[in-house]
Amino acid sequence: MLQFEKVQAIQDTILAATIGDKEQLEEFRVRYLGTKNTIKPLFAEMRNIPNERKKEYGQLLNAVKQSAETKFQEASESLTAAAANEVEPIDLTAPSEPMELGSRHPVSLVLNQMIEIFDRLGFVVAEDMEVEDDWHNFTALNTPPDHPARDMQDTYYILNDPTRLLRTHTSSVQSHVMMTQKPPIRIIAPGRVYRNETISSRAHCQFHQVEGLYIAEKVSFADLRQTIYYFAKEMFGATKIRMRPSFFPFTEPSAEVDVWWGMETEADKRITKGTGWLEILGCGMVDPAVLENCGIDTEKYSGFAFGMGVERIAMLKYQIDDIRLLFENDVRFLKQFKKTAVF
Ligand code: DAH
Repeated sequence: MLQFEKVQAIQDTILAATIGDKEQLEEFRVRYLGTKNTIKPLFAEMRNIPNERKKEYGQLLNAVKQSAETKFQEASESLTAAAANEVEPIDLTAPSEPMELGSRHPVSLVLNQMIEIFDRLGFVVAEDMEVEDDWHNFTALNTPPDHPARDMQDTYYILNDPTRLLRTHTSSVQSHVMMTQKPPIRIIAPGRVYRNETISSRAHCQFHQVEGLYIAEKVSFADLRQTIYYFAKEMFGATKIRMRPSFFPFTEPSAEVDVWWGMETEADKRITKGTGWLEILGCGMVDPAVLENCGIDTEKYSGFAFGMGVERIAMLKYQIDDIRLLFENDVRFLKQFKKTAVF
C-alpha cells in the first residue's frame, strides 16, 4: 500500500540522516519534531487506512516518531560533547607570554642597603621578638617603671598584662644580645616596632628601625662618629655629618646626627626646613648602667649604640610624601620601585 511505503521512506530518511553541526541539528528538529513537522500529517491519514491495518499503521507511525526523537537526542548529545572536547589549537612557534616580575618593597630595599653597608664594617644582623617584655624594652635600657623617659614612646601594652608590650624600638634587641653574648659584640638589629601614635602622613603606629650596637675594649666616641660618617657617606652620598648633644636614657653622652643634604633646590629647602641639614639618627656611648644591667664588665668594656627609622629614610630616598602608602600594599604604588631611586 502506497501510504505504508511513504511512511517507511520517511523512516529510512530519518535513520540515514547525518547531523554534523548545530545548523543540521536545528533543521532536523524543525522537520521532524517542530510544530509543523512532516510526521504529524501522516497521523491524519489514519482515516484512509482500512480497519484491519489501522493498528499496523499506527505502530509504524509511532516507531517513526520515536526514531526521530532518539536520533535528535543522540545527535544533540554528541555535538555538546564534541564542543566540550574542542581544544584551542596550539601554535608551537608563538613567543611565550612575558612573565611579570615583582618588585621589592621600598622599606625592604632600604633595609637591605643598610644591612649591606654595616656588613662591610663587620656588623652582623641580630633579631628578636616583637612582643617584648617590659624589662628588655625599658628597664634594662635604664628606663625603670615611672621613669619620665617612658613618655617619649607611647606604648601598646598587652591586655591585662602590664609586663608585656609591643616593642617600641629595636633597642630591645640590644638587651637580649648583651645578655646572651660575650664582647666583642657588633650587631645591627633591623625590625618592626610599634607606638600608639595617631596615624597621619608623617606618623604611623607601626614602622621599622635599625639598631646598632658595638661593644669591645676601648670603644670610643671617635669610633662611633667614624662609623656613622661611613654609613652617611655610603647611604646618602653625604660629604659632612654633624652631631648635636641630645638625651636618651640608654646612652651617655647621647647625640643626634644630621647629614649635610644641601640647599640647592626648593625641595632641599623644604626637606631640611631651610637649614641644609637632615636628622637621620640617634646615638651615643652605651650608659655603663645598661652594660651592668646586662652583665657586661664595665671595667673592661665600653660601647656605642645608634638607632634610626627606616620609613623616614625610604621616604626621602624615593620622594614619598605619605608614610601610609608604605603599609597599604597597593600594587600600583609598589610596582614603581623597579625604577632607580633619587640617591
Ligand atoms: N631607641 C631610640 C628611639 O627609638 C633610638 C636610639 C637612640 C637608639 C639612641 C640608640 C641610641 O641605640 O643610642 O628613638
